[in-house]
Amino acid sequence: MKQTLILITAMILAGAVFAAPFPKGDPKAGKTLFDNAKCGACHASMMGGEGSRLFTRPERKVNSPDALLKQVKFCATQAGAQWFPDQEEHVAAYLNQQYYKFK
Ligand code: HEC
Repeated sequence: MKQTLILITAMILAGAVFAAPFPKGDPKAGKTLFDNAKCGACHASMMGGEGSRLFTRPERKVNSPDALLKQVKFCATQAGAQWFPDQEEHVAAYLNQQYYKFK
C-alpha cells in the first residue's frame, strides 16, 4: 500500500515536471512569429510605448495556459496573422517562457 502511494506520488511529480503547458510549442519559433506578425505594435500603442508591459502588468487578463492560448488565437485574428494551431502554440510557449511563466 505504502509503496503504491509512493509510486503514484512520484508519477504525479514527474508529470508536473515534464508536462509543460505547451509541450509542442517552440519558444524560439514563437518569438520569430510574434515579431513578424507585429504583435507588439498594437500593444505598444495601448501601453504608452512598452508593449510587453501588457504581459507583466499586475492586472493582466491571462491567468492560465488555456487563457493564454485563447488570447493568442484571438489576437492573431486581430492581427490577420493566419497562424496554424501549432504556430499559435509556439507563440504561447514564447510568451509563457518570457513573461507568464505558467508551470
Ligand atoms: C489590433 C490590436 C492588437 C494586435 C495587432 C494584437 N493584440 Fe494582443 N491584445 C490586444 C488587446 C486590445 C488586448 C486586451 C487588453 C486588455 O483587455 O486589457 C490584447 C491582449 C493580449 C494578450 C493578453 C495580455 C494580458 O492581459 O495578459 C496577449 C497574450 C496578446 N494580446 C497576444 C497577442 C499576439 C500574440 C499578437 C500577434 C498575433 C497580438 N496580441 C496582436 C490588441 C492587439
